[in-house]
Amino acid sequence: VRIGVLGQGTVGGSFSKLLRERQSQIELVTGTKISEAGTLTRSSGSFTEILDNADVIVEAIGGVNDAADYVTEALQAKKHVITANKQLLAEQGQQLWRLAKENQVQLRFEAAVGGVVPIVRTIQEALAVSPIDAVHGIVNGTTNFILSEMESKGLGYQEALGLAQEKGYAESDPADDVQGRDAAAKLAILSLLAFGTTVNLSDIAYRGIEEISPADINYASKLGLSIKLLASAERIDGGLSVSVEPVFLDQAHPLSQVHGSHNAVMIESTVFNEITLSGPGAGGNETATAVLGDLISIITGGASLPEHTEDLQITSEIISPYYLHLEISDRPGVLSEVAQVLADLKISIESVVQEAVSSTAADAQLILVLHQSKSTEVDKACQELAKLKPVHGRPRAVRVMHSSA
Ligand code: HSE
Repeated sequence: VRIGVLGQGTVGGSFSKLLRERQSQIELVTGTKISEAGTLTRSSGSFTEILDNADVIVEAIGGVNDAADYVTEALQAKKHVITANKQLLAEQGQQLWRLAKENQVQLRFEAAVGGVVPIVRTIQEALAVSPIDAVHGIVNGTTNFILSEMESKGLGYQEALGLAQEKGYAESDPADDVQGRDAAAKLAILSLLAFGTTVNLSDIAYRGIEEISPADINYASKLGLSIKLLASAERIDGGLSVSVEPVFLDQAHPLSQVHGSHNAVMIESTVFNEITLSGPGAGGNETATAVLGDLISIITGGASLPEHTEDLQITSEIISPYYLHLEISDRPGVLSEVAQVLADLKISIESVVQEAVSSTAADAQLILVLHQSKSTEVDKACQELAKLKPVHGRPRAVRVMHSSA
């Protein structure tokens, strides 16, 4: 089996190195001789030559347009393709899977979601015919690293982001990480795998971590909550709710103990309750390890392609408890005004903490945890609360997730 590698950056470079280092083990495990069919970089190599010489193409060139052309050509030429390109799959996965099927070759993408965590093959193979009710993932290493550093070491946001970039976790444009776009692309892929339904990137209302302040992290920890950027797809009312947003998790939640650049995906089902897989989600060697696993699967027979099985109505509505943070003037009647707005929207309060602060406008912070509420009603509540005279600035609402145990 001859392997052509497109791209020699963090992932492509690490993969080529691993391929050489592990050659004899790969041959031993698969019983197949492997060789390199050339590498393509932005400045060297010929794609046509590599394609002619290869049986498997590893696409690690990044970006969407060129990568889409290479992958399409490779599949049409009946070559198996492995890609780590989440944006490409989120935008064009459906067509590319169809093309692979028509040409009777495999398109594998374990490294596109969760780095080395084998979440794609778990959903695609182990759980292929099991009902899945929800998938919740920490699927961006950069943001998890930033939030962990802010939480555990009290680092500022910029300082933590700088560290994540230094360690090679962040995308070339870290805006994709911190604004939630990278996680949204991964969620689109997970949704198709888990629910057999197409979720376009434009269907996903994604929010990043930029608005999270050290104060939120501090108060949440007093309430026993820890913050994560969660990508969630869950069946509600016969449809599929999809979201990427910061969420507070209680300490017993399986995803609350996932720290640093680690990723984790929790799958919920009425049949098996819950499975959580976690591990390194970013980094060259880690991601290249997942690509290598795909190569082994291709050589040894591999998995079926995901089938489109359902057309679920996609919504961004969420039903969940929420954390609500308000800056207020501490004077008689404020609490009842706030409570009235919530009562009018039929939102019920679970707990309240008030702390004195000395800022120019406000003199207290009010932190409320709301019982199960609809996200649209919580949005309305934030708009109404912002209009109250004693409320300063913008109220911040963050979803809270408790463990089901
Ligand atoms: N920038 C991504 C992350 C890399 O931080 O998770 C892995 O997809």
